[in-house]
Amino acid sequence: MSKFIIQGGKRLEGEVKISGSKNAALPIIAATILNSGKTTLYNVPNIQDVQTMFEIVKQIGGKVTKKNNKIIIDTSKVHKYEIPEELMRKMRSSVILAGALIGKYKKAKFSYPGGCDIGSRPIDLHIKGFEKLGIQIREDHGKIECNAEEIIGNQINLDFPSVGATENIILASCLGKGTTILTNAAKEPEIEDLIKYLNKMGAKIKGAGTDRIEIIGVKKLSEISYNIMPDRIEAGTYLVAGAITGGRVKITNANPMHIEPIINKLEEANCKLNVEKNTIEIIAPKRVKAIDIKTMPYPGFPTDLQSIFAALLATGKGTSVITENIFESRYKYVQELNRMGAKIKVECRNAIIKGTKKIQGANVVSTDLRGGAALVIEALVAKGETQINNIDYILRGYEKMEEKLRQLGADIRKEE
Ligand code: EPZ
Repeated sequence: MSKFIIQGGKRLEGEVKISGSKNAALPIIAATILNSGKTTLYNVPNIQDVQTMFEIVKQIGGKVTKKNNKIIIDTSKVHKYEIPEELMRKMRSSVILAGALIGKYKKAKFSYPGGCDIGSRPIDLHIKGFEKLGIQIREDHGKIECNAEEIIGNQINLDFPSVGATENIILASCLGKGTTILTNAAKEPEIEDLIKYLNKMGAKIKGAGTDRIEIIGVKKLSEISYNIMPDRIEAGTYLVAGAITGGRVKITNANPMHIEPIINKLEEANCKLNVEKNTIEIIAPKRVKAIDIKTMPYPGFPTDLQSIFAALLATGKGTSVITENIFESRYKYVQELNRMGAKIKVECRNAIIKGTKKIQGANVVSTDLRGGAALVIEALVAKGETQINNIDYILRGYEKMEEKLRQLGADIRKEE
Protein backbone atom coordinates (compact mmCIF):
# COMPACT_ATOMS: atom_id res chain seq x y z
CA MET A 1 0.00 0.00 0.00
CA SER A 2 1.39 3.46 -0.84
CA LYS A 3 1.68 6.31 1.63
CA PHE A 4 1.96 10.11 1.81
CA ILE A 5 4.81 11.81 3.70
CA ILE A 6 3.89 15.40 4.61
CA GLN A 7 6.01 18.05 6.37
CA GLY A 8 3.51 20.41 8.00
CA GLY A 9 3.67 24.17 8.45
CA LYS A 10 3.57 25.47 4.87
CA ARG A 11 1.02 28.23 4.16
CA LEU A 12 -0.84 27.26 0.95
CA GLU A 13 -1.09 29.87 -1.78
CA GLY A 14 -2.03 29.87 -5.46
CA GLU A 15 -4.55 28.32 -7.84
CA VAL A 16 -5.83 24.76 -8.22
CA LYS A 17 -8.11 23.40 -10.96
CA ILE A 18 -11.01 21.21 -9.79
CA SER A 19 -11.46 17.89 -11.63
CA GLY A 20 -14.66 16.29 -12.89
CA SER A 21 -17.04 14.92 -10.25
CA LYS A 22 -16.51 11.30 -9.13
CA ASN A 23 -20.13 11.03 -7.97
CA ALA A 24 -21.49 12.35 -11.27
CA ALA A 25 -19.11 10.32 -13.47
CA LEU A 26 -19.98 6.95 -11.86
CA PRO A 27 -23.77 6.98 -12.54
CA ILE A 28 -23.23 8.55 -15.99
CA ILE A 29 -20.78 5.77 -16.96
CA ALA A 30 -23.44 3.26 -15.84
CA ALA A 31 -26.05 5.13 -17.92
CA THR A 32 -23.99 4.70 -21.12
CA ILE A 33 -25.37 1.11 -21.18
CA LEU A 34 -28.82 2.51 -21.99
CA ASN A 35 -28.07 3.66 -25.57
CA SER A 36 -26.28 0.45 -26.68
CA GLY A 37 -23.96 2.64 -28.69
CA LYS A 38 -21.21 5.22 -28.26
CA THR A 39 -20.93 7.96 -25.64
CA THR A 40 -18.07 10.48 -25.55
CA LEU A 41 -17.37 11.87 -22.06
CA TYR A 42 -15.21 14.90 -21.19
CA ASN A 43 -13.82 16.01 -17.81
CA VAL A 44 -13.89 12.45 -16.42
CA PRO A 45 -11.60 12.33 -13.34
CA ASN A 46 -8.71 9.84 -13.63
CA ILE A 47 -9.29 8.13 -10.25
CA GLN A 48 -9.48 4.54 -9.02
CA ASP A 49 -13.29 4.37 -8.66
CA VAL A 50 -13.76 5.49 -12.29
CA GLN A 51 -11.18 2.89 -13.44
CA THR A 52 -13.11 0.22 -11.53
CA MET A 53 -16.33 1.27 -13.26
CA PHE A 54 -14.59 1.06 -16.66
CA GLU A 55 -13.34 -2.42 -15.67
CA ILE A 56 -16.89 -3.60 -15.01
CA VAL A 57 -18.22 -2.11 -18.28
CA LYS A 58 -15.44 -3.97 -20.15
CA GLN A 59 -16.11 -7.23 -18.27
CA ILE A 60 -19.77 -7.24 -19.39
CA GLY A 61 -18.79 -6.63 -23.02
CA GLY A 62 -18.46 -2.86 -23.34
CA LYS A 63 -15.48 -1.07 -24.87
CA VAL A 64 -13.70 1.90 -23.23
CA THR A 65 -11.10 3.96 -25.12
CA LYS A 66 -9.21 7.01 -23.87
CA LYS A 67 -8.31 9.70 -26.41
CA ASN A 68 -6.52 12.78 -25.07
CA ASN A 69 -9.01 14.41 -22.70
CA LYS A 70 -12.02 12.32 -23.70
CA ILE A 71 -13.31 8.82 -22.96
CA ILE A 72 -15.33 6.93 -25.57
CA ILE A 73 -17.56 4.19 -24.20
CA ASP A 74 -19.19 1.74 -26.65
CA THR A 75 -21.88 -0.44 -25.07
CA SER A 76 -23.25 -1.94 -28.32
CA LYS A 77 -21.68 -5.32 -27.52
CA VAL A 78 -22.72 -5.58 -23.84
CA HIS A 79 -23.86 -9.21 -23.50
CA LYS A 80 -23.44 -10.08 -19.80
CA TYR A 81 -25.73 -8.94 -17.04
CA GLU A 82 -23.85 -9.94 -13.89
CA ILE A 83 -21.64 -7.47 -12.03
CA PRO A 84 -18.48 -9.40 -10.97
CA GLU A 85 -18.51 -9.98 -7.19
CA GLU A 86 -14.92 -8.89 -6.59
CA LEU A 87 -15.62 -5.57 -8.33
CA MET A 88 -18.87 -5.09 -6.37
CA ARG A 89 -16.86 -5.52 -3.18
CA LYS A 90 -14.15 -3.17 -4.42
CA MET A 91 -16.66 -0.41 -5.02
CA ARG A 92 -20.15 -0.63 -3.58
CA SER A 93 -21.42 2.20 -5.78
CA SER A 94 -21.16 -0.24 -8.73
CA VAL A 95 -24.68 -1.28 -7.66
CA ILE A 96 -25.70 1.65 -9.91
CA LEU A 97 -24.97 -0.60 -12.93
CA ALA A 98 -27.88 -2.82 -11.85
CA GLY A 99 -30.40 -0.06 -12.63
CA ALA A 100 -28.84 0.51 -16.06
CA LEU A 101 -28.70 -3.24 -16.90
CA ILE A 102 -32.32 -3.73 -15.81
CA GLY A 103 -33.39 -0.57 -17.66
CA LYS A 104 -31.84 -1.83 -20.89
CA TYR A 105 -31.95 -5.65 -20.70
CA LYS A 106 -34.62 -6.20 -18.03
CA LYS A 107 -32.19 -8.36 -16.08
CA ALA A 108 -29.23 -7.99 -13.74
CA LYS A 109 -27.35 -10.10 -11.22
CA PHE A 110 -25.12 -8.72 -8.49
CA SER A 111 -23.93 -9.47 -4.99
CA TYR A 112 -24.79 -7.42 -1.93
CA PRO A 113 -22.42 -4.44 -2.09
CA GLY A 114 -21.42 -5.08 1.53
CA GLY A 115 -20.69 -2.46 4.15
CA CYS A 116 -17.69 -0.18 4.20
CA ASP A 117 -16.01 2.01 6.77
CA ILE A 118 -18.83 4.53 7.03
CA GLY A 119 -21.72 2.23 7.75
CA SER A 120 -23.74 -0.78 6.71
CA ARG A 121 -24.76 0.79 3.35
CA PRO A 122 -28.04 -1.16 2.82
CA ILE A 123 -29.80 -1.16 -0.57
CA ASP A 124 -33.36 -1.87 0.62
CA LEU A 125 -34.65 1.36 -0.97
CA HIS A 126 -33.12 0.38 -4.34
CA ILE A 127 -34.79 -3.06 -4.15
CA LYS A 128 -38.19 -1.65 -3.09
CA GLY A 129 -38.04 0.80 -6.00
CA PHE A 130 -37.20 -1.98 -8.48
CA GLU A 131 -40.13 -4.08 -7.19
CA LYS A 132 -42.53 -1.15 -7.70
CA LEU A 133 -41.39 -1.10 -11.35
CA GLY A 134 -42.51 -4.72 -11.82
CA ILE A 135 -39.03 -6.24 -11.43
CA GLN A 136 -38.88 -9.71 -9.83
CA ILE A 137 -36.11 -9.93 -7.22
CA ARG A 138 -34.60 -13.28 -6.18
CA GLU A 139 -31.96 -13.49 -3.46
CA ASP A 140 -29.81 -16.52 -2.82
CA HIS A 141 -26.32 -17.06 -1.41
CA GLY A 142 -25.69 -13.32 -1.15
CA LYS A 143 -26.52 -12.76 -4.83
CA ILE A 144 -29.46 -10.68 -6.03
CA GLU A 145 -31.11 -11.62 -9.34
CA CYS A 146 -33.45 -9.13 -11.07
CA ASN A 147 -35.78 -9.99 -13.96
CA ALA A 148 -38.73 -8.24 -15.59
CA GLU A 149 -41.11 -8.98 -18.49
CA GLU A 150 -41.73 -5.26 -18.80
CA ILE A 151 -40.66 -2.26 -16.74
CA ILE A 152 -43.95 -0.55 -15.86
CA GLY A 153 -43.92 3.07 -14.62
CA ASN A 154 -45.32 3.58 -11.09
CA GLN A 155 -45.53 5.94 -8.10
CA ILE A 156 -42.49 5.44 -5.85
CA ASN A 157 -41.89 7.24 -2.55
CA LEU A 158 -38.49 6.90 -0.89
CA ASP A 159 -38.38 6.52 2.93
CA PHE A 160 -35.10 8.48 2.78
CA PRO A 161 -33.78 10.70 -0.08
CA SER A 162 -31.11 8.14 -0.99
CA VAL A 163 -28.76 9.31 -3.78
CA GLY A 164 -28.06 5.79 -5.08
CA ALA A 165 -31.68 4.66 -4.90
CA THR A 166 -32.82 7.82 -6.76
CA GLU A 167 -30.24 7.20 -9.50
CA ASN A 168 -31.01 3.48 -9.79
CA ILE A 169 -34.78 4.05 -10.10
CA ILE A 170 -34.22 6.68 -12.81
CA LEU A 171 -31.88 4.34 -14.75
CA ALA A 172 -34.28 1.40 -14.47
CA SER A 173 -37.36 3.36 -15.59
CA CYS A 174 -36.27 5.72 -18.39
CA LEU A 175 -36.76 3.04 -21.12
CA GLY A 176 -39.85 1.56 -19.42
CA LYS A 177 -43.55 1.72 -20.31
CA GLY A 178 -45.59 4.60 -18.90
CA THR A 179 -44.56 7.18 -16.33
CA THR A 180 -42.77 6.88 -12.99
CA ILE A 181 -43.28 9.55 -10.33
CA LEU A 182 -40.51 9.43 -7.73
CA THR A 183 -41.16 11.43 -4.55
CA ASN A 184 -38.83 12.24 -1.64
CA ALA A 185 -36.08 11.87 -4.26
CA ALA A 186 -32.51 13.03 -3.54
CA LYS A 187 -31.67 16.47 -4.99
CA GLU A 188 -27.86 16.28 -5.17
CA PRO A 189 -26.23 18.13 -8.15
CA GLU A 190 -24.80 14.80 -9.33
CA ILE A 191 -28.37 13.58 -9.90
CA GLU A 192 -29.12 16.75 -11.89
CA ASP A 193 -26.02 16.01 -14.00
CA LEU A 194 -27.19 12.42 -14.61
CA ILE A 195 -30.66 13.66 -15.65
CA LYS A 196 -29.14 16.30 -17.95
CA TYR A 197 -27.05 13.54 -19.57
CA LEU A 198 -30.07 11.22 -19.98
CA ASN A 199 -32.31 13.98 -21.39
CA LYS A 200 -29.55 14.88 -23.87
CA MET A 201 -29.71 11.20 -24.99
CA GLY A 202 -33.48 11.63 -25.53
CA ALA A 203 -34.93 10.60 -22.17
CA LYS A 204 -37.97 12.47 -20.82
CA ILE A 205 -37.20 13.28 -17.19
CA LYS A 206 -38.55 16.31 -15.31
CA GLY A 207 -37.89 17.68 -11.81
CA ALA A 208 -34.08 17.48 -11.73
CA GLY A 209 -32.85 19.05 -8.50
CA THR A 210 -36.25 18.74 -6.82
CA ASP A 211 -37.63 15.99 -4.57
CA ARG A 212 -40.26 15.03 -7.18
CA ILE A 213 -38.90 13.46 -10.36
CA GLU A 214 -41.13 12.41 -13.28
CA ILE A 215 -39.73 9.85 -15.73
CA ILE A 216 -41.74 9.25 -18.93
CA GLY A 217 -40.50 6.04 -20.54
CA VAL A 218 -39.09 6.35 -24.11
CA LYS A 219 -38.20 3.68 -26.66
CA LYS A 220 -34.63 4.53 -27.50
CA LEU A 221 -31.72 6.70 -26.38
CA SER A 222 -29.14 8.10 -28.78
CA GLU A 223 -25.35 8.48 -28.93
CA ILE A 224 -24.08 11.78 -27.51
CA SER A 225 -21.08 13.50 -25.97
CA TYR A 226 -21.20 15.04 -22.50
CA ASN A 227 -19.09 17.14 -20.14
CA ILE A 228 -19.05 15.95 -16.49
CA MET A 229 -19.75 18.62 -13.82
CA PRO A 230 -16.94 19.71 -11.46
CA ASP A 231 -16.42 17.82 -8.20
CA ARG A 232 -17.99 19.86 -5.37
CA ILE A 233 -16.43 17.67 -2.64
CA GLU A 234 -12.94 18.11 -4.08
CA ALA A 235 -13.66 21.87 -4.30
CA GLY A 236 -14.57 21.95 -0.60
CA THR A 237 -11.47 19.92 0.28
CA TYR A 238 -9.06 22.41 -1.32
CA LEU A 239 -10.85 25.41 0.20
CA VAL A 240 -10.34 23.78 3.61
CA ALA A 241 -6.67 23.08 2.76
CA GLY A 242 -6.30 26.83 2.21
CA ALA A 243 -8.28 27.62 5.38
CA ILE A 244 -6.33 25.33 7.75
CA THR A 245 -2.95 26.77 6.68
CA GLY A 246 -4.10 30.40 7.03
CA GLY A 247 -3.46 30.61 3.31
CA ARG A 248 -4.85 32.22 0.19
CA VAL A 249 -6.10 29.64 -2.35
CA LYS A 250 -8.17 30.08 -5.50
CA ILE A 251 -10.02 27.07 -6.91
CA THR A 252 -10.92 27.22 -10.63
CA ASN A 253 -13.33 25.19 -12.79
CA ALA A 254 -15.70 25.02 -9.81
CA ASN A 255 -19.43 25.69 -9.48
CA PRO A 256 -20.09 27.92 -6.41
CA MET A 257 -23.83 27.14 -6.62
CA HIS A 258 -23.08 23.54 -5.60
CA ILE A 259 -21.17 24.46 -2.45
CA GLU A 260 -23.19 27.22 -0.82
CA PRO A 261 -23.29 25.47 2.60
CA ILE A 262 -19.48 25.12 2.52
CA ILE A 263 -18.96 28.78 1.58
CA ASN A 264 -21.41 29.80 4.32
CA LYS A 265 -19.63 27.70 7.01
CA LEU A 266 -16.15 28.91 6.00
CA GLU A 267 -17.36 32.54 6.26
CA GLU A 268 -18.91 31.74 9.66
CA ALA A 269 -15.46 30.40 10.68
CA ASN A 270 -14.00 33.83 9.86
CA CYS A 271 -12.59 33.13 6.37
CA LYS A 272 -13.02 35.62 3.54
CA LEU A 273 -14.31 34.19 0.26
CA ASN A 274 -14.31 35.91 -3.14
CA VAL A 275 -16.87 34.07 -5.31
CA GLU A 276 -16.96 34.46 -9.11
CA LYS A 277 -18.79 32.44 -11.80
CA ASN A 278 -16.37 29.45 -11.92
CA THR A 279 -13.81 30.34 -9.28
CA ILE A 280 -13.72 30.77 -5.50
CA GLU A 281 -10.82 32.33 -3.61
CA ILE A 282 -10.40 31.82 0.12
CA ILE A 283 -8.35 34.12 2.37
CA ALA A 284 -8.03 32.55 5.81
CA PRO A 285 -7.11 33.91 9.27
CA LYS A 286 -4.27 32.24 11.22
CA ARG A 287 -6.84 30.19 13.12
CA VAL A 288 -10.51 29.73 12.20
CA LYS A 289 -13.32 30.32 14.67
CA ALA A 290 -15.24 27.37 16.16
CA ILE A 291 -18.57 26.62 14.39
CA ASP A 292 -21.26 23.93 14.57
CA ILE A 293 -22.14 21.71 11.58
CA LYS A 294 -25.02 19.30 10.93
CA THR A 295 -24.77 17.09 7.85
CA MET A 296 -28.01 16.86 5.84
CA PRO A 297 -29.19 15.70 2.40
CA TYR A 298 -28.57 18.31 -0.34
CA PRO A 299 -28.89 21.30 -0.23
CA GLY A 300 -27.75 20.90 3.40
CA PHE A 301 -24.12 20.48 4.49
CA PRO A 302 -22.67 17.42 2.66
CA THR A 303 -21.70 14.39 4.77
CA ASP A 304 -18.68 13.88 2.46
CA LEU A 305 -17.03 17.02 3.87
CA GLN A 306 -17.77 16.21 7.54
CA SER A 307 -14.35 14.66 8.25
CA ILE A 308 -12.51 17.37 6.34
CA PHE A 309 -14.17 20.11 8.38
CA ALA A 310 -13.48 18.17 11.60
CA ALA A 311 -9.76 18.33 10.73
CA LEU A 312 -10.04 22.10 10.19
CA LEU A 313 -12.00 22.73 13.40
CA ALA A 314 -9.51 20.61 15.40
CA THR A 315 -7.12 23.58 14.96
CA GLY A 316 -9.76 26.30 15.46
CA LYS A 317 -10.31 28.74 18.33
CA GLY A 318 -12.94 27.28 20.70
CA THR A 319 -15.15 24.18 20.77
CA SER A 320 -17.12 23.03 17.69
CA VAL A 321 -19.82 20.36 17.44
CA ILE A 322 -20.42 18.30 14.28
CA THR A 323 -23.55 16.14 13.96
CA GLU A 324 -23.49 13.37 11.32
CA ASN A 325 -27.09 12.72 10.27
CA ILE A 326 -26.56 10.65 7.11
CA PHE A 327 -24.30 7.66 7.93
CA GLU A 328 -24.35 5.77 11.20
CA SER A 329 -20.59 5.46 11.69
CA ARG A 330 -18.62 8.06 9.84
CA TYR A 331 -16.15 8.96 12.63
CA LYS A 332 -13.53 6.17 12.25
CA TYR A 333 -10.95 8.79 11.22
CA VAL A 334 -11.26 10.60 14.61
CA GLN A 335 -8.94 8.20 16.46
CA GLU A 336 -6.26 8.90 13.83
CA LEU A 337 -6.70 12.68 14.12
CA ASN A 338 -6.43 12.36 17.92
CA ARG A 339 -3.08 10.58 17.47
CA MET A 340 -1.92 13.86 15.95
CA GLY A 341 -3.03 15.80 19.05
CA ALA A 342 -6.59 16.67 18.02
CA LYS A 343 -9.04 16.77 20.92
CA ILE A 344 -12.19 15.19 19.48
CA LYS A 345 -14.76 13.24 21.48
CA VAL A 346 -17.41 11.18 19.65
CA GLU A 347 -20.78 10.70 21.35
CA CYS A 348 -23.23 8.83 19.09
CA ARG A 349 -23.83 11.09 16.09
CA ASN A 350 -21.91 14.04 17.57
CA ALA A 351 -18.22 14.92 17.45
CA ILE A 352 -17.22 17.50 20.09
CA ILE A 353 -14.05 19.22 18.88
CA LYS A 354 -11.89 21.29 21.26
CA GLY A 355 -9.66 23.40 19.02
CA THR A 356 -5.91 23.26 19.74
CA LYS A 357 -2.70 24.69 18.28
CA LYS A 358 -0.72 21.61 19.32
CA ILE A 359 -1.14 19.33 16.30
CA GLN A 360 1.92 17.09 15.85
CA GLY A 361 3.02 14.96 12.91
CA ALA A 362 2.44 11.22 13.49
CA ASN A 363 2.17 7.84 11.78
CA VAL A 364 -1.53 7.49 10.85
CA VAL A 365 -3.71 5.21 8.71
CA SER A 366 -6.54 6.13 6.32
CA THR A 367 -9.79 4.41 7.27
CA ASP A 368 -11.85 5.47 4.22
CA LEU A 369 -11.83 7.97 1.36
CA ARG A 370 -12.94 11.17 3.11
CA GLY A 371 -11.45 10.14 6.47
CA GLY A 372 -8.11 9.78 4.68
CA ALA A 373 -8.50 13.24 3.13
CA ALA A 374 -9.06 14.64 6.66
CA LEU A 375 -5.67 13.21 7.72
CA VAL A 376 -3.99 14.96 4.77
CA ILE A 377 -5.66 18.25 5.76
CA GLU A 378 -4.47 17.87 9.38
CA ALA A 379 -0.93 16.95 8.30
CA LEU A 380 -0.65 20.26 6.40
CA VAL A 381 -0.44 22.14 9.71
CA ALA A 382 1.02 19.44 12.00
CA LYS A 383 4.42 20.19 13.53
CA GLY A 384 6.98 17.94 11.83
CA GLU A 385 6.41 14.93 9.60
CA THR A 386 3.19 12.94 9.14
CA GLN A 387 3.11 9.56 7.41
CA ILE A 388 -0.33 8.61 6.09
CA ASN A 389 -0.67 4.91 5.22
CA ASN A 390 -3.35 3.17 3.10
CA ILE A 391 -3.71 6.17 0.80
CA ASP A 392 -5.27 3.96 -1.89
CA TYR A 393 -8.56 4.92 -0.20
CA ILE A 394 -7.80 8.58 -0.89
CA LEU A 395 -6.66 7.97 -4.47
CA ARG A 396 -10.10 6.42 -5.15
CA GLY A 397 -11.68 9.86 -5.06
CA TYR A 398 -9.03 12.57 -5.54
CA GLU A 399 -7.25 13.07 -8.87
CA LYS A 400 -3.53 14.05 -8.64
CA MET A 401 -3.89 15.09 -4.97
CA GLU A 402 -0.18 15.33 -4.16
CA GLU A 403 0.54 17.30 -7.37
CA LYS A 404 -2.29 19.74 -6.66
CA LEU A 405 -1.20 20.26 -3.03
CA ARG A 406 2.48 20.61 -4.05
CA GLN A 407 1.44 23.22 -6.62
CA LEU A 408 -0.09 25.19 -3.70
CA GLY A 409 3.18 24.98 -1.74
CA ALA A 410 2.61 21.88 0.42
CA ASP A 411 5.61 19.65 1.23
CA ILE A 412 4.12 16.28 0.28
CA ARG A 413 5.47 13.18 -1.44
CA LYS A 414 4.10 9.74 -2.23
CA GLU A 415 6.03 6.55 -1.41
CA GLU A 416 5.12 3.05 -2.61
C1 EPZ B 1 -23.76 8.60 -2.35
O1 EPZ B 1 -23.70 7.35 -1.68
C2 EPZ B 1 -22.32 9.04 -2.54
N1 EPZ B 1 -21.61 8.06 -3.38
C3 EPZ B 1 -21.63 9.15 -1.17
O2 EPZ B 1 -20.30 9.64 -1.39
C4 EPZ B 1 -22.40 10.17 -0.33
O3 EPZ B 1 -21.84 10.21 0.96
C5 EPZ B 1 -23.88 9.75 -0.23
O4 EPZ B 1 -24.44 9.59 -1.55
C6 EPZ B 1 -24.72 10.77 0.52
O5 EPZ B 1 -24.63 12.01 -0.13
C7 EPZ B 1 -21.75 8.13 -4.72
O6 EPZ B 1 -22.48 8.96 -5.25
C8 EPZ B 1 -20.98 7.12 -5.52
P1 EPZ B 1 -27.30 7.24 0.06
P2 EPZ B 1 -25.05 6.45 -1.50
O7 EPZ B 1 -27.98 6.10 -0.62
O8 EPZ B 1 -25.87 6.56 -2.74
C9 EPZ B 1 -29.15 4.94 3.76
C10 EPZ B 1 -17.98 9.63 -1.24
O9 EPZ B 1 -17.24 9.83 -0.27
N2 EPZ B 1 -29.74 4.03 2.76
O10 EPZ B 1 -27.80 8.63 -0.14
O11 EPZ B 1 -24.65 5.11 -1.04
C11 EPZ B 1 -27.64 4.76 3.85
O12 EPZ B 1 -27.32 3.68 4.73
C12 EPZ B 1 -19.21 8.77 -1.06
O13 EPZ B 1 -17.80 10.11 -2.40
C13 EPZ B 1 -30.64 3.06 3.18
O14 EPZ B 1 -30.95 2.95 4.36
O15 EPZ B 1 -25.76 7.23 -0.30
C14 EPZ B 1 -27.18 6.07 4.40
O16 EPZ B 1 -27.33 6.07 5.81
C15 EPZ B 1 -19.31 8.19 0.34
N3 EPZ B 1 -31.16 2.21 2.25
C16 EPZ B 1 -28.15 7.07 3.78
O17 EPZ B 1 -29.29 6.31 3.34
C17 EPZ B 1 -30.84 2.29 0.92
O18 EPZ B 1 -31.38 1.50 0.11
C18 EPZ B 1 -27.57 7.82 2.59
O19 EPZ B 1 -27.23 6.88 1.63
C19 EPZ B 1 -29.91 3.28 0.51
C20 EPZ B 1 -29.38 4.14 1.44
